Amino acid sequence: MANIAKKVVLKFTTSMLLCALMFTSACLCQSVPGIYMLGDSLVDVGNNNHLPLSLAKANFAHNGLDFPSGKATGRFSNGKNAADFLAEKVGLPTGPPYLSLLSKEQELGDAPITGVSFASGGAGIIRDTPSQSISLTQQVEHYTLVYEQLVQKLGSAGAQTHLAKSLFMIVIGSNDLFAYFKNNSDPSKKYTPQQYVDLIASNLIHLMKRLHGMGARKFVVTGLGMIGCCPRQRKDNATSGCNEEANYWSSKYNDGLKHLLENLKLESPDINYSYFDMYKAMSDLIQDPQKYGITEIKEACCGIGNLKADVPCIPVSNYCPNRNNHLFWDFYHPTEMVSNLNIDLMYNGPKQYTIPMTIEQLVEL
Ligand SMILES: *[C@@H]1O[C@H](CO)[C@@H](O)[C@H](O)[C@H]1NC(C)=O
Ligand SMILES: *[C@@H]1O[C@H](CO)[C@@H](O)[C@H](O)[C@H]1NC(C)=O
Ligand SMILES: *[C@@H]1O[C@H](CO)[C@@H](O)[C@H](O)[C@H]1NC(C)=O
Repeated sequence: MANIAKKVVLKFTTSMLLCALMFTSACLCQSVPGIYMLGDSLVDVGNNNHLPLSLAKANFAHNGLDFPSGKATGRFSNGKNAADFLAEKVGLPTGPPYLSLLSKEQELGDAPITGVSFASGGAGIIRDTPSQSISLTQQVEHYTLVYEQLVQKLGSAGAQTHLAKSLFMIVIGSNDLFAYFKNNSDPSKKYTPQQYVDLIASNLIHLMKRLHGMGARKFVVTGLGMIGCCPRQRKDNATSGCNEEANYWSSKYNDGLKHLLENLKLESPDINYSYFDMYKAMSDLIQDPQKYGITEIKEACCGIGNLKADVPCIPVSNYCPNRNNHLFWDFYHPTEMVSNLNIDLMYNGPKQYTIPMTIEQLVEL
């Protein structure tokens, strides 16, 4: 009898312990209840697959070669992208593409409470190419519907609590600058480069304020990288150097954005953010690629021609056998390995890469 009682007690304590363990891990996961992702091809996880007329697509080989399924998903990458790596850090699934949640009648189905991705390849802050990409303004419109659904599900107070702990990540701006520096571009006729970078930075802040009005409190915002160093830009330089002008204005844009973010925080103290200095991250990588096991920083892995950048990564292009020693997967986008590296730096890397805090610190607030 005593033995049986002992066994029962043992069983009971074991299951208590299991319960406690499960409860703790569930609580850890709850530290970030959702991720709402906005931006361009650096974080698109398949929205553009649903734009029938868009040419800004990646749902064909050799994209996705190193994805767990081995198949193209719409990510502009050989495998996962930054959206996936951030989700992994906080123990959430990658949010599904917003457009995948629409029914035939274009009505929003059940959006998962763990977040949604609005990002779209080719998207800009003010650059608007309807049918090709979903502009940031339109992405915020899409968020409005997800927000309304959340309020219906959780009630107003419940939705506010949920959203205040969720991350809103915004990765965008490269396409606005590329559009400006194209030969005889419309924006370059209207604005000086300084006016233009000020305009896009202030538009981004304006859209962040709209998100703030719909519950967003924790933002992850990335600055622009050295966009003049992507293979597509290098190939126009006779010595394969970076497009210095594009780099210069990327860094000017970053300066403006950092300043506006400080002001935003003063205006709305309940906003907290982590700004990522993508420019510095890329510059450090280009200066000392060996440190990360990277041996090729100029040429794309997948493509055809000079720097594999004359023809994009399409099924007839060839690709490099080792993706992990390349900075660029295709003529614009980093390899999965470099996206992972960037998220590591953002999440809990050395403090010179993030202002004023890392994502990990932002999560813990
Ligand atoms: C821009 O246009 C000029 C003159 O039309 C041409 O010489 C130059 O190669 C063009 N540059 C690019 C990057 O297409
Ligand atoms: C081309 O690259 C070289 C370095 O190789 C650089 O000095 C030069 O400024 C670049 N040209 C432009 C137009 O950016
Ligand atoms: C953000 O930080 C401020 C302090 O600057 C704090 O009062 C506020 O509650 C924080 N917001 C969240 C959502 O943690």
